[in-house]
Amino acid sequence: MKIVLLGPPGAGKGTQAARLAQDTKYEHLSTGEMLRRAVKSGSEIGIRAESFMKNGGLVPDEVVIGIIEDRLKSDGAEVSHIFDGFPRTVTQAEALEEMLGRIDSGLDRVVYFDVPEEVVVERLSGRRTCSKCGANFHEKFVPPKKENICDKCGGGLYQRDDDKPESIRNRLASYKALTSELIEYYDKKKMLGRVAADREPESIYADLKKTIGLN
Ligand code: AP5
Repeated sequence: MKIVLLGPPGAGKGTQAARLAQDTKYEHLSTGEMLRRAVKSGSEIGIRAESFMKNGGLVPDEVVIGIIEDRLKSDGAEVSHIFDGFPRTVTQAEALEEMLGRIDSGLDRVVYFDVPEEVVVERLSGRRTCSKCGANFHEKFVPPKKENICDKCGGGLYQRDDDKPESIRNRLASYKALTSELIEYYDKKKMLGRVAADREPESIYADLKKTIGLN
Protein backbone atom coordinates (compact mmCIF):
# COMPACT_ATOMS: atom_id res chain seq x y z
CA MET A 1 0.00 0.00 0.00
CA LYS A 2 1.37 3.41 -0.99
CA ILE A 3 -0.54 6.51 0.14
CA VAL A 4 0.09 10.21 -0.37
CA LEU A 5 -1.16 12.83 2.11
CA LEU A 6 -1.67 16.12 0.30
CA GLY A 7 -2.62 19.51 1.70
CA PRO A 8 -1.34 22.92 2.79
CA PRO A 9 1.31 23.37 5.47
CA GLY A 10 -0.27 22.91 8.87
CA ALA A 11 -3.20 20.85 7.58
CA GLY A 12 -2.34 18.07 10.03
CA LYS A 13 -0.72 15.62 7.60
CA GLY A 14 2.20 14.87 9.90
CA THR A 15 -0.03 14.42 12.95
CA GLN A 16 -2.30 11.94 11.15
CA ALA A 17 0.54 10.11 9.37
CA ALA A 18 2.33 9.53 12.68
CA ARG A 19 -0.84 8.07 14.21
CA LEU A 20 -1.47 5.82 11.22
CA ALA A 21 2.12 4.57 11.28
CA GLN A 22 1.77 3.81 14.99
CA ASP A 23 -1.43 1.77 14.45
CA THR A 24 -0.26 -0.11 11.33
CA LYS A 25 2.95 -1.36 9.77
CA TYR A 26 3.08 1.59 7.39
CA GLU A 27 6.28 3.59 7.21
CA HIS A 28 5.82 7.34 7.60
CA LEU A 29 7.99 9.14 5.04
CA SER A 30 8.03 12.86 5.76
CA THR A 31 10.35 14.69 3.37
CA GLY A 32 10.23 17.72 5.68
CA GLU A 33 11.47 15.60 8.60
CA MET A 34 14.13 13.88 6.46
CA LEU A 35 15.37 17.27 5.27
CA ARG A 36 15.42 18.71 8.81
CA ARG A 37 17.55 15.75 9.90
CA ALA A 38 19.89 16.34 6.95
CA VAL A 39 20.23 20.02 7.93
CA LYS A 40 20.97 19.06 11.54
CA SER A 41 23.65 16.56 10.51
CA GLY A 42 25.31 19.09 8.20
CA SER A 43 25.26 16.65 5.25
CA GLU A 44 25.61 17.84 1.65
CA ILE A 45 21.83 17.54 1.16
CA GLY A 46 21.23 19.51 4.36
CA ILE A 47 23.55 22.30 3.27
CA ARG A 48 21.72 22.56 -0.09
CA ALA A 49 18.27 22.47 1.51
CA GLU A 50 18.72 24.80 4.50
CA SER A 51 18.19 28.23 2.94
CA PHE A 52 15.14 27.12 0.93
CA MET A 53 13.53 25.67 4.04
CA LYS A 54 14.26 28.63 6.27
CA ASN A 55 12.58 31.01 3.84
CA GLY A 56 9.60 28.76 3.28
CA GLY A 57 10.44 27.92 -0.33
CA LEU A 58 10.57 24.48 -1.88
CA VAL A 59 13.82 22.53 -1.97
CA PRO A 60 14.81 21.73 -5.61
CA ASP A 61 12.95 18.76 -7.09
CA GLU A 62 16.06 16.69 -7.80
CA VAL A 63 17.12 16.81 -4.13
CA VAL A 64 13.84 15.49 -2.71
CA ILE A 65 13.32 13.03 -5.55
CA GLY A 66 16.81 11.63 -4.80
CA ILE A 67 15.95 11.16 -1.11
CA ILE A 68 12.71 9.29 -1.92
CA GLU A 69 14.38 7.23 -4.64
CA ASP A 70 17.05 5.95 -2.22
CA ARG A 71 14.39 5.01 0.31
CA LEU A 72 12.14 3.22 -2.21
CA LYS A 73 15.09 1.28 -3.56
CA SER A 74 15.98 -0.03 -0.10
CA ASP A 75 12.38 -0.69 1.07
CA GLY A 76 10.96 -2.11 -2.18
CA ALA A 77 7.33 -2.79 -3.06
CA GLU A 78 6.48 -4.88 0.02
CA VAL A 79 6.78 -2.03 2.52
CA SER A 80 3.68 0.16 2.88
CA HIS A 81 4.47 3.87 2.76
CA ILE A 82 2.65 7.03 3.80
CA PHE A 83 4.17 9.89 1.83
CA ASP A 84 3.77 13.06 3.89
CA GLY A 85 4.79 16.25 2.04
CA PHE A 86 5.84 14.46 -1.14
CA PRO A 87 5.09 15.00 -4.00
CA ARG A 88 4.78 18.79 -3.94
CA THR A 89 5.13 19.57 -7.63
CA VAL A 90 3.93 17.90 -10.83
CA THR A 91 7.57 17.00 -11.60
CA GLN A 92 7.77 15.17 -8.26
CA ALA A 93 4.43 13.44 -8.87
CA GLU A 94 5.62 12.16 -12.25
CA ALA A 95 8.93 11.04 -10.74
CA LEU A 96 7.10 9.17 -7.98
CA GLU A 97 5.00 7.28 -10.51
CA GLU A 98 8.11 6.32 -12.43
CA MET A 99 10.06 5.26 -9.32
CA LEU A 100 7.16 3.12 -8.10
CA GLY A 101 6.84 1.55 -11.55
CA ARG A 102 10.51 0.56 -11.39
CA ILE A 103 9.90 -1.45 -8.21
CA ASP A 104 6.67 -3.00 -9.60
CA SER A 105 4.46 -0.93 -7.39
CA GLY A 106 2.01 1.95 -7.74
CA LEU A 107 0.14 4.57 -5.78
CA ASP A 108 -3.08 3.35 -4.14
CA ARG A 109 -4.64 6.55 -2.84
CA VAL A 110 -4.05 10.26 -2.42
CA VAL A 111 -5.79 11.90 0.52
CA TYR A 112 -6.35 15.65 0.33
CA PHE A 113 -6.60 17.45 3.69
CA ASP A 114 -9.07 20.23 3.06
CA VAL A 115 -8.66 23.10 5.52
CA PRO A 116 -9.07 26.91 5.30
CA GLU A 117 -6.01 29.16 5.30
CA GLU A 118 -6.83 30.98 8.55
CA VAL A 119 -6.92 27.64 10.39
CA VAL A 120 -3.49 26.57 9.15
CA VAL A 121 -1.92 29.90 10.09
CA GLU A 122 -3.14 29.49 13.68
CA ARG A 123 -1.97 25.88 13.79
CA LEU A 124 1.51 26.69 12.48
CA SER A 125 2.04 29.71 14.72
CA GLY A 126 1.38 27.62 17.84
CA ARG A 127 3.14 24.43 16.77
CA ARG A 128 5.94 23.07 18.95
CA THR A 129 8.16 20.26 17.62
CA CYS A 130 10.30 17.76 19.52
CA SER A 131 14.01 18.31 18.88
CA LYS A 132 14.68 14.60 19.43
CA CYS A 133 11.90 12.59 17.73
CA GLY A 134 10.15 15.24 15.59
CA ALA A 135 6.69 14.75 17.20
CA ASN A 136 4.38 17.74 16.85
CA PHE A 137 2.34 19.50 19.52
CA HIS A 138 0.36 22.71 19.65
CA GLU A 139 0.47 25.13 22.57
CA LYS A 140 -3.33 25.46 22.53
CA PHE A 141 -4.86 22.57 20.53
CA VAL A 142 -2.50 19.66 21.29
CA PRO A 143 -0.53 20.68 24.39
CA PRO A 144 2.13 18.34 25.82
CA LYS A 145 1.43 16.96 29.32
CA LYS A 146 4.51 18.79 30.67
CA GLU A 147 5.28 22.24 29.30
CA ASN A 148 7.95 22.13 26.57
CA ILE A 149 8.62 18.40 27.04
CA CYS A 150 7.73 15.76 24.44
CA ASP A 151 5.16 13.21 25.71
CA LYS A 152 6.68 10.52 23.52
CA CYS A 153 10.42 10.67 24.22
CA GLY A 154 11.03 13.38 26.83
CA GLY A 155 12.93 15.59 24.35
CA GLY A 156 12.73 19.39 24.45
CA LEU A 157 10.19 21.22 22.28
CA TYR A 158 11.12 24.12 20.00
CA GLN A 159 9.48 26.36 17.42
CA ARG A 160 10.55 25.55 13.85
CA ASP A 161 12.30 28.42 12.03
CA ASP A 162 9.76 28.14 9.24
CA ASP A 163 6.83 28.50 11.68
CA LYS A 164 7.55 32.23 12.02
CA PRO A 165 5.14 34.65 10.26
CA GLU A 166 7.19 35.52 7.17
CA SER A 167 8.10 31.89 6.41
CA ILE A 168 4.48 30.83 6.94
CA ARG A 169 3.41 33.38 4.31
CA ASN A 170 6.03 32.07 1.87
CA ARG A 171 5.10 28.45 2.49
CA LEU A 172 1.45 29.16 1.79
CA ALA A 173 2.44 31.01 -1.39
CA SER A 174 4.61 28.05 -2.53
CA TYR A 175 1.74 25.71 -1.79
CA LYS A 176 -0.71 27.76 -3.86
CA ALA A 177 1.71 28.26 -6.76
CA LEU A 178 3.18 24.77 -7.07
CA THR A 179 1.45 22.14 -4.94
CA SER A 180 -2.28 22.87 -5.06
CA GLU A 181 -2.46 21.86 -8.74
CA LEU A 182 -1.81 18.28 -7.60
CA ILE A 183 -5.40 18.17 -6.32
CA GLU A 184 -6.70 18.31 -9.87
CA TYR A 185 -3.82 16.15 -11.14
CA TYR A 186 -4.79 13.25 -8.87
CA ASP A 187 -8.51 13.90 -9.19
CA LYS A 188 -8.24 13.35 -12.95
CA LYS A 189 -6.44 10.08 -12.27
CA LYS A 190 -9.35 9.07 -9.98
CA MET A 191 -7.01 8.60 -7.04
CA LEU A 192 -8.12 11.48 -4.85
CA GLY A 193 -10.08 11.20 -1.62
CA ARG A 194 -10.96 14.31 0.41
CA VAL A 195 -10.96 14.66 4.17
CA ALA A 196 -12.34 17.76 5.92
CA ALA A 197 -9.36 18.59 8.15
CA ASP A 198 -10.83 21.50 10.10
CA ARG A 199 -12.04 19.26 12.92
CA GLU A 200 -10.92 17.28 15.93
CA PRO A 201 -7.93 15.00 15.19
CA GLU A 202 -10.01 11.93 16.14
CA SER A 203 -12.71 12.43 13.49
CA ILE A 204 -10.13 13.30 10.84
CA TYR A 205 -8.35 10.04 11.65
CA ALA A 206 -11.57 8.03 11.32
CA ASP A 207 -12.21 9.59 7.89
CA LEU A 208 -8.62 9.06 6.79
CA LYS A 209 -8.86 5.34 7.57
CA LYS A 210 -12.16 5.07 5.73
CA THR A 211 -10.73 6.87 2.69
CA ILE A 212 -7.82 4.43 2.40
CA GLY A 213 -10.02 1.40 3.04
CA LEU A 214 -8.93 0.59 6.62
CA ASN A 215 -11.41 0.06 9.41
P1 AP5 B 1 7.15 19.93 5.95
O1 AP5 B 1 7.74 19.58 7.25
O2 AP5 B 1 6.57 18.85 5.11
O3 AP5 B 1 6.12 21.09 6.19
P2 AP5 B 1 4.63 21.29 5.62
O4 AP5 B 1 4.14 20.57 4.45
O5 AP5 B 1 4.64 22.75 5.48
O6 AP5 B 1 3.77 20.64 6.62
P3 AP5 B 1 3.74 20.89 8.09
O7 AP5 B 1 4.70 19.98 8.78
O8 AP5 B 1 3.93 22.37 8.35
O9 AP5 B 1 2.23 20.63 8.44
P4 AP5 B 1 1.39 19.30 8.61
O10 AP5 B 1 0.30 19.27 7.60
O11 AP5 B 1 2.26 18.09 8.74
O12 AP5 B 1 0.70 19.64 10.01
P5 AP5 B 1 1.00 19.09 11.47
O13 AP5 B 1 0.47 17.71 11.62
O14 AP5 B 1 2.42 19.33 11.86
O15 AP5 B 1 8.22 20.69 5.04
C1 AP5 B 1 9.05 21.70 5.56
C2 AP5 B 1 9.89 22.29 4.44
O16 AP5 B 1 10.73 21.29 3.84
C3 AP5 B 1 9.09 22.86 3.23
O17 AP5 B 1 8.66 24.18 3.47
C4 AP5 B 1 10.13 22.77 2.12
O18 AP5 B 1 11.08 23.79 2.22
C5 AP5 B 1 10.84 21.45 2.44
N1 AP5 B 1 10.19 20.30 1.75
C6 AP5 B 1 9.59 19.24 2.34
N2 AP5 B 1 9.11 18.38 1.42
C7 AP5 B 1 9.43 18.92 0.21
C8 AP5 B 1 9.20 18.52 -1.13
N3 AP5 B 1 8.52 17.39 -1.41
N4 AP5 B 1 9.65 19.31 -2.12
C9 AP5 B 1 10.33 20.45 -1.86
N5 AP5 B 1 10.58 20.90 -0.61
C10 AP5 B 1 10.14 20.14 0.41
O19 AP5 B 1 0.03 20.06 12.30
C11 AP5 B 1 0.29 21.45 12.42
C12 AP5 B 1 -0.04 21.94 13.83
O20 AP5 B 1 -1.45 21.80 14.05
C13 AP5 B 1 0.62 21.14 14.96
O21 AP5 B 1 0.92 22.02 15.99
C14 AP5 B 1 -0.44 20.13 15.39
O22 AP5 B 1 -0.29 19.76 16.75
C15 AP5 B 1 -1.72 20.92 15.15
N6 AP5 B 1 -2.86 20.10 14.72
C16 AP5 B 1 -2.82 19.01 13.90
N7 AP5 B 1 -4.08 18.54 13.69
C17 AP5 B 1 -4.90 19.37 14.36
C18 AP5 B 1 -6.34 19.43 14.51
N8 AP5 B 1 -7.15 18.55 13.92
N9 AP5 B 1 -6.85 20.41 15.27
C19 AP5 B 1 -6.05 21.34 15.88
N10 AP5 B 1 -4.71 21.34 15.78
C20 AP5 B 1 -4.13 20.36 15.02
